[in-house]
Amino acid sequence: MSARFSHAPLAPFGVEVRIDLSAPLSSADQDQLRRLYARDGLLVFRDLQLSMEQQCELCRVFGPVLDSPYENYYVSNARTDGHLGVMELQWHNDVPYLPKPYLAAALHAIEVAPGASSTQFASGMKAYERLSPRLRERIAGLNALQVKQRFSDRTNRLTDLQPGDLCTVHPVVREQEGTGRPYLFVNQNMTALIIGLASEESDALLEELYAALYVRDEVYEHAWHPGDLVLWDNLAVQHARGRISADKRTLQRVSITELSYAQQYAADLGIRAAYGNASLMTPAD
Ligand SMILES: [Fe+2]
Repeated sequence: MSARFSHAPLAPFGVEVRIDLSAPLSSADQDQLRRLYARDGLLVFRDLQLSMEQQCELCRVFGPVLDSPYENYYVSNARTDGHLGVMELQWHNDVPYLPKPYLAAALHAIEVAPGASSTQFASGMKAYERLSPRLRERIAGLNALQVKQRFSDRTNRLTDLQPGDLCTVHPVVREQEGTGRPYLFVNQNMTALIIGLASEESDALLEELYAALYVRDEVYEHAWHPGDLVLWDNLAVQHARGRISADKRTLQRVSITELSYAQQYAADLGIRAAYGNASLMTPAD
Protein backbone atom coordinates (compact mmCIF):
# COMPACT_ATOMS: atom_id res chain seq x y z
CA MET A 1 0.00 0.00 0.00
CA SER A 2 1.32 3.45 -0.85
CA ALA A 3 1.82 6.15 1.77
CA ARG A 4 -1.03 8.16 0.29
CA PHE A 5 -3.47 5.30 0.30
CA SER A 6 -5.02 3.25 3.13
CA HIS A 7 -8.11 1.09 3.41
CA ALA A 8 -10.14 -0.86 5.94
CA PRO A 9 -13.17 -3.17 5.72
CA LEU A 10 -16.60 -1.83 6.61
CA ALA A 11 -19.36 -3.80 8.30
CA PRO A 12 -21.36 -5.61 7.06
CA PHE A 13 -19.68 -5.12 3.67
CA GLY A 14 -17.70 -2.58 1.68
CA VAL A 15 -14.29 -0.98 2.02
CA GLU A 16 -13.37 2.43 3.43
CA VAL A 17 -10.63 4.19 1.47
CA ARG A 18 -8.48 7.15 2.41
CA ILE A 19 -6.49 8.48 -0.48
CA ASP A 20 -4.65 11.66 -1.39
CA LEU A 21 -5.81 12.76 -4.83
CA SER A 22 -3.66 15.89 -5.04
CA ALA A 23 -1.41 14.11 -7.56
CA PRO A 24 -2.44 11.69 -10.35
CA LEU A 25 -3.03 8.09 -9.19
CA SER A 26 -0.28 5.64 -10.09
CA SER A 27 -1.29 2.60 -12.12
CA ALA A 28 -0.55 0.46 -9.03
CA ASP A 29 -2.97 2.56 -6.96
CA GLN A 30 -5.60 2.30 -9.69
CA ASP A 31 -5.20 -1.49 -9.83
CA GLN A 32 -5.52 -1.68 -6.06
CA LEU A 33 -8.69 0.44 -6.10
CA ARG A 34 -10.22 -1.81 -8.75
CA ARG A 35 -9.36 -4.91 -6.70
CA LEU A 36 -10.93 -3.43 -3.58
CA TYR A 37 -14.00 -2.41 -5.56
CA ALA A 38 -14.43 -5.90 -7.02
CA ARG A 39 -14.38 -7.47 -3.55
CA ASP A 40 -17.72 -6.11 -2.28
CA GLY A 41 -18.79 -3.66 -4.99
CA LEU A 42 -18.81 -0.78 -2.50
CA LEU A 43 -16.11 1.78 -1.72
CA VAL A 44 -16.45 4.64 0.78
CA PHE A 45 -13.91 7.43 0.31
CA ARG A 46 -13.46 10.05 3.03
CA ASP A 47 -12.46 13.71 3.09
CA LEU A 48 -12.52 14.42 -0.63
CA GLN A 49 -13.37 17.73 -2.22
CA LEU A 50 -14.00 17.07 -5.88
CA SER A 51 -15.57 19.12 -8.65
CA MET A 52 -17.90 17.27 -11.01
CA GLU A 53 -15.01 16.97 -13.50
CA GLN A 54 -12.65 15.58 -10.84
CA GLN A 55 -15.29 13.09 -9.70
CA CYS A 56 -15.74 11.94 -13.32
CA GLU A 57 -11.96 11.47 -13.52
CA LEU A 58 -11.89 9.32 -10.36
CA CYS A 59 -14.83 7.26 -11.66
CA ARG A 60 -12.98 6.58 -14.92
CA VAL A 61 -10.61 4.38 -12.91
CA PHE A 62 -13.56 1.95 -12.64
CA GLY A 63 -15.21 2.27 -16.05
CA PRO A 64 -16.52 4.58 -18.77
CA VAL A 65 -18.03 7.94 -17.81
CA LEU A 66 -19.99 9.89 -20.39
CA ASP A 67 -20.26 13.64 -20.72
CA SER A 68 -24.01 13.72 -20.20
CA PRO A 69 -26.24 15.80 -17.90
CA TYR A 70 -28.68 12.95 -17.50
CA GLU A 71 -26.01 10.59 -16.11
CA ASN A 72 -24.09 13.14 -14.03
CA TYR A 73 -26.10 15.54 -11.88
CA TYR A 74 -26.96 16.66 -8.34
CA VAL A 75 -29.19 14.76 -5.90
CA SER A 76 -30.36 17.62 -3.73
CA ASN A 77 -33.12 19.12 -1.66
CA ALA A 78 -31.23 22.44 -1.65
CA ARG A 79 -30.15 23.22 -5.23
CA THR A 80 -32.69 24.48 -7.76
CA ASP A 81 -31.23 22.06 -10.34
CA GLY A 82 -31.26 19.16 -7.81
CA HIS A 83 -33.01 15.86 -8.56
CA LEU A 84 -35.08 13.40 -6.52
CA GLY A 85 -36.23 16.03 -4.01
CA VAL A 86 -37.38 14.55 -0.73
CA MET A 87 -39.14 11.39 -1.84
CA GLU A 88 -38.53 7.91 -0.46
CA LEU A 89 -36.62 5.58 -2.80
CA GLN A 90 -37.40 1.90 -2.35
CA TRP A 91 -34.65 -0.70 -2.85
CA HIS A 92 -33.47 -0.62 -6.45
CA ASN A 93 -30.69 -0.80 -8.99
CA ASP A 94 -30.65 2.32 -11.14
CA VAL A 95 -32.39 1.92 -14.50
CA PRO A 96 -32.60 -1.91 -14.45
CA TYR A 97 -35.17 -1.68 -17.26
CA LEU A 98 -32.47 -0.62 -19.75
CA PRO A 99 -30.74 -3.34 -21.79
CA LYS A 100 -27.43 -2.21 -20.25
CA PRO A 101 -28.12 -0.67 -16.84
CA TYR A 102 -25.42 1.60 -15.39
CA LEU A 103 -22.37 -0.38 -14.27
CA ALA A 104 -21.72 1.75 -11.21
CA ALA A 105 -22.51 5.08 -9.60
CA ALA A 106 -20.80 7.48 -7.22
CA LEU A 107 -22.34 10.00 -4.83
CA HIS A 108 -20.13 12.71 -3.33
CA ALA A 109 -21.34 14.74 -0.36
CA ILE A 110 -20.98 18.42 -1.26
CA GLU A 111 -23.26 19.85 1.41
CA VAL A 112 -24.84 17.76 4.14
CA ALA A 113 -26.23 19.23 7.33
CA PRO A 114 -25.84 17.20 10.53
CA GLY A 115 -28.69 14.69 10.64
CA ALA A 116 -29.18 14.69 6.85
CA SER A 117 -30.81 11.49 5.62
CA SER A 118 -28.69 8.40 5.05
CA THR A 119 -28.49 6.01 2.09
CA GLN A 120 -28.71 2.22 2.51
CA PHE A 121 -26.88 -0.38 0.45
CA ALA A 122 -27.58 -4.12 0.10
CA SER A 123 -25.32 -6.65 -1.63
CA GLY A 124 -26.77 -8.95 -4.27
CA MET A 125 -23.56 -11.02 -4.06
CA LYS A 126 -23.87 -11.61 -0.31
CA ALA A 127 -27.58 -12.27 -0.74
CA TYR A 128 -26.90 -15.01 -3.26
CA GLU A 129 -24.46 -16.61 -0.81
CA ARG A 130 -27.19 -16.61 1.85
CA LEU A 131 -29.69 -18.51 -0.32
CA SER A 132 -30.39 -22.14 0.47
CA PRO A 133 -29.25 -24.70 -2.14
CA ARG A 134 -32.94 -25.35 -2.85
CA LEU A 135 -33.59 -21.70 -3.65
CA ARG A 136 -30.43 -21.37 -5.76
CA GLU A 137 -31.55 -24.36 -7.78
CA ARG A 138 -35.04 -22.95 -8.15
CA ILE A 139 -33.90 -19.63 -9.63
CA ALA A 140 -31.16 -21.03 -11.88
CA GLY A 141 -31.91 -20.00 -15.46
CA LEU A 142 -34.93 -17.83 -14.56
CA ASN A 143 -35.43 -14.37 -16.00
CA ALA A 144 -37.27 -11.39 -14.57
CA LEU A 145 -39.00 -8.42 -16.17
CA GLN A 146 -37.65 -5.03 -15.09
CA VAL A 147 -40.07 -2.19 -15.78
CA LYS A 148 -39.78 1.57 -16.08
CA GLN A 149 -40.03 3.36 -12.76
CA ARG A 150 -43.33 5.19 -12.43
CA PHE A 151 -43.24 5.15 -8.60
CA SER A 152 -40.18 5.34 -6.38
CA ASP A 153 -41.86 4.35 -3.10
CA ARG A 154 -43.73 1.21 -4.12
CA THR A 155 -43.28 -1.73 -6.46
CA ASN A 156 -43.91 -0.90 -10.11
CA ARG A 157 -46.36 -3.31 -11.70
CA LEU A 158 -47.32 -4.11 -15.29
CA THR A 159 -50.56 -2.25 -14.66
CA ASP A 160 -48.57 0.92 -13.91
CA LEU A 161 -46.97 1.03 -17.35
CA GLN A 162 -47.96 3.70 -19.84
CA PRO A 163 -47.64 3.80 -23.63
CA GLY A 164 -43.98 3.86 -24.70
CA ASP A 165 -42.60 2.68 -21.34
CA LEU A 166 -39.52 0.48 -21.64
CA CYS A 167 -39.18 -2.97 -20.04
CA THR A 168 -36.21 -5.36 -20.28
CA VAL A 169 -35.80 -9.02 -19.37
CA HIS A 170 -32.67 -9.77 -17.33
CA PRO A 171 -31.50 -12.98 -15.63
CA VAL A 172 -32.49 -13.30 -11.97
CA VAL A 173 -28.88 -14.31 -11.26
CA ARG A 174 -26.10 -12.45 -13.04
CA GLU A 175 -22.34 -12.72 -12.69
CA GLN A 176 -19.95 -9.97 -11.67
CA GLU A 177 -17.76 -9.02 -14.61
CA GLY A 178 -14.18 -10.11 -14.13
CA THR A 179 -14.82 -12.46 -11.18
CA GLY A 180 -17.84 -14.49 -12.30
CA ARG A 181 -19.28 -14.12 -8.83
CA PRO A 182 -23.07 -14.63 -8.90
CA TYR A 183 -25.45 -11.97 -7.61
CA LEU A 184 -29.20 -11.50 -7.38
CA PHE A 185 -30.59 -9.05 -9.90
CA VAL A 186 -34.16 -8.54 -8.77
CA ASN A 187 -35.19 -5.46 -6.84
CA GLN A 188 -38.17 -4.43 -4.76
CA ASN A 189 -39.00 -1.33 -6.82
CA MET A 190 -38.75 -2.20 -10.54
CA THR A 191 -38.91 -6.00 -10.86
CA ALA A 192 -42.50 -6.60 -11.98
CA LEU A 193 -42.41 -10.39 -12.26
CA ILE A 194 -40.44 -13.54 -12.94
CA ILE A 195 -41.03 -14.73 -16.47
CA GLY A 196 -43.04 -17.94 -16.88
CA LEU A 197 -44.48 -18.08 -13.36
CA ALA A 198 -48.08 -17.46 -12.35
CA SER A 199 -48.47 -14.06 -10.72
CA GLU A 200 -48.90 -15.39 -7.14
CA GLU A 201 -45.96 -17.77 -7.56
CA SER A 202 -43.77 -15.00 -8.96
CA ASP A 203 -44.65 -12.64 -6.07
CA ALA A 204 -43.96 -15.37 -3.50
CA LEU A 205 -40.57 -16.23 -5.01
CA LEU A 206 -39.58 -12.56 -5.22
CA GLU A 207 -40.51 -12.11 -1.55
CA GLU A 208 -38.22 -15.03 -0.64
CA LEU A 209 -35.38 -13.40 -2.57
CA TYR A 210 -36.03 -9.98 -1.01
CA ALA A 211 -35.96 -11.58 2.43
CA ALA A 212 -32.37 -12.63 1.66
CA LEU A 213 -31.44 -9.33 0.00
CA TYR A 214 -32.69 -6.84 2.55
CA VAL A 215 -31.82 -8.52 5.88
CA ARG A 216 -31.47 -5.54 8.24
CA ASP A 217 -28.17 -6.70 9.74
CA GLU A 218 -26.65 -7.15 6.27
CA VAL A 219 -27.47 -3.63 5.07
CA TYR A 220 -24.71 -1.00 5.02
CA GLU A 221 -26.22 2.33 6.03
CA HIS A 222 -24.19 5.36 5.07
CA ALA A 223 -24.64 8.46 7.24
CA TRP A 224 -23.33 11.29 5.08
CA HIS A 225 -20.54 13.64 6.11
CA PRO A 226 -19.15 16.42 3.90
CA GLY A 227 -16.37 15.04 1.70
CA ASP A 228 -17.66 11.45 1.61
CA LEU A 229 -17.80 9.70 -1.74
CA VAL A 230 -19.57 6.36 -2.02
CA LEU A 231 -18.97 4.37 -5.18
CA TRP A 232 -20.96 1.19 -5.76
CA ASP A 233 -21.53 -1.51 -8.35
CA ASN A 234 -25.03 -0.66 -9.58
CA LEU A 235 -25.63 -4.22 -10.77
CA ALA A 236 -24.45 -6.26 -7.76
CA VAL A 237 -25.34 -3.72 -5.05
CA GLN A 238 -28.73 -2.07 -4.52
CA HIS A 239 -29.57 1.15 -2.72
CA ALA A 240 -32.50 2.81 -0.99
CA ARG A 241 -33.35 5.77 1.18
CA GLY A 242 -36.21 6.95 3.33
CA ARG A 243 -37.95 10.28 2.88
CA ILE A 244 -35.46 13.13 3.06
CA SER A 245 -35.57 15.35 6.11
CA ALA A 246 -35.50 19.15 5.87
CA ASP A 247 -31.74 19.16 6.59
CA LYS A 248 -29.82 20.37 3.55
CA ARG A 249 -28.36 17.55 1.52
CA THR A 250 -26.56 17.89 -1.83
CA LEU A 251 -24.83 14.87 -3.34
CA GLN A 252 -22.87 15.09 -6.60
CA ARG A 253 -23.72 12.10 -8.74
CA VAL A 254 -21.67 10.44 -11.50
CA SER A 255 -22.71 7.30 -13.40
CA ILE A 256 -20.33 4.73 -14.87
CA THR A 257 -21.87 3.28 -17.99
CA GLU A 258 -21.02 2.15 -21.49
CA LEU A 259 -24.19 3.64 -22.96
CA SER A 260 -26.21 6.64 -21.89
CA TYR A 261 -29.88 6.43 -20.96
CA ALA A 262 -30.83 8.26 -24.16
CA GLN A 263 -28.73 5.98 -26.35
CA GLN A 264 -30.68 3.02 -24.99
CA TYR A 265 -34.08 4.65 -24.69
CA ALA A 266 -34.24 7.37 -27.29
CA ALA A 267 -38.02 7.22 -27.28
CA ASP A 268 -38.32 8.50 -23.70
CA LEU A 269 -39.90 11.83 -24.51
CA GLY A 270 -39.91 12.90 -20.86
CA ILE A 271 -36.15 13.27 -20.60
CA ARG A 272 -35.93 14.86 -24.04
CA ALA A 273 -38.33 17.54 -22.91
CA ALA A 274 -36.25 18.13 -19.77
CA TYR A 275 -32.75 18.07 -21.23
CA GLY A 276 -33.01 18.66 -24.98
CA ASN A 277 -32.04 16.20 -27.72
CA ALA A 278 -28.54 17.42 -28.46
CA SER A 279 -26.97 17.16 -25.00
CA LEU A 280 -28.53 13.75 -24.34
CA MET A 281 -27.07 12.10 -27.39
CA THR A 282 -23.43 12.98 -26.73
CA PRO A 283 -20.85 11.72 -27.15
CA ALA A 284 -21.36 8.62 -29.31
CA ASP A 285 -24.31 9.88 -31.38
FE1 LIG B 1 -30.95 5.26 -7.39
